[in-house]
Amino acid sequence: MEKYKQIIQKQLEEYFEEYKKNSSYSSIIWDAMAYTTLSGGKRLRAIMTLETAKMFKLPIETALPLACSVEIMHAYSLIHDDLPCMDNDDLRRGKPTNHKIYGEAIATLAGDALISFGAQIIIDKTPNNIPKEIVLDIVKDYLVCAGAKGIIAGQVADIKAQDKKGNIENLNYIHKHKTADLFKFAILSSAKLAQVDKKTFEKLEEFALNFGMLFQIYDDIIDCTLTTKELGKTAGKDQEENKLTYVKIHGLDKAKNIFYSLIDKNHGILDSLNVNSKIFKDIHESLITKVKK
Ligand code: IPE
Ligand code: IPE
Ligand code: MG
Ligand code: MG
Ligand code: MG
Repeated sequence: MEKYKQIIQKQLEEYFEEYKKNSSYSSIIWDAMAYTTLSGGKRLRAIMTLETAKMFKLPIETALPLACSVEIMHAYSLIHDDLPCMDNDDLRRGKPTNHKIYGEAIATLAGDALISFGAQIIIDKTPNNIPKEIVLDIVKDYLVCAGAKGIIAGQVADIKAQDKKGNIENLNYIHKHKTADLFKFAILSSAKLAQVDKKTFEKLEEFALNFGMLFQIYDDIIDCTLTTKELGKTAGKDQEENKLTYVKIHGLDKAKNIFYSLIDKNHGILDSLNVNSKIFKDIHESLITKVKK
């Protein structure tokens, strides 16, 4: 996992260096974009993109531009999520949030610019031996994921549900789109590159959706069980902002039970895929460790 993380970090740094060149007047936007994208994080989504490629015998270098685009889209979603008009957060990955450093206007623009940058990276950097129709299909998925039927749909529902009672249907819609859509893109885009068969693709689709849901449930849980230092972001923020979360609807114990049952389901899918991915199991374990704390 650490090796993947380093490969992703190095490639992201190189892309930023290359594309930032010759943009002297507007170099601040590149600094703001790089500030959040390069500032660490677990890199789970990009690791999953690379691991999916490896599972299906694709060289990981082929999926590396895609993995970077996933982290770039993720960084956009974090910058916008933290804005005062959204979740109003001061701390992200143990550092001041983007708007605290660059101001709200530049932070907003940096998020916007990251969306298009990620799509450009897929087009520019995916190796030429991948058929163009596949690249086009993946870029479309990227744009749908970032937009009003993807992350934004979830974020709109999240904001609209604030300070309201809410229900399970609403809650699942939020988690499915604000979080699971990007995990789906991370895994399925790589599966498309590897041209896996239909049955395998459907299993991966179910795995990715389950993972996205259990990941946001995990995030809801640790928001109220871990400290600000452990989180690298402000603890107790969901309650403070009266967010619709798994903990709010189900309580802590039931939220944990649902989390564990989705982990079990995903172990079953991995076994049925016959791929025996240590990385996916390690990722599950890393989340379980934090939920148990
Ligand atoms: C945070 O995601 C946003 C959510 C969808 C909950 P991560 O917890 O993966 O954030 P980083 O990338 O590790 O900082
Ligand atoms: C994250 O939901 C969703 C996106 C960033 C799209 P949260 O608002 O719970 O994420 P954190 O807790 O701020 O990382
Ligand atoms: Mg949010
Ligand atoms: Mg937030
Ligand atoms: Mg959260």
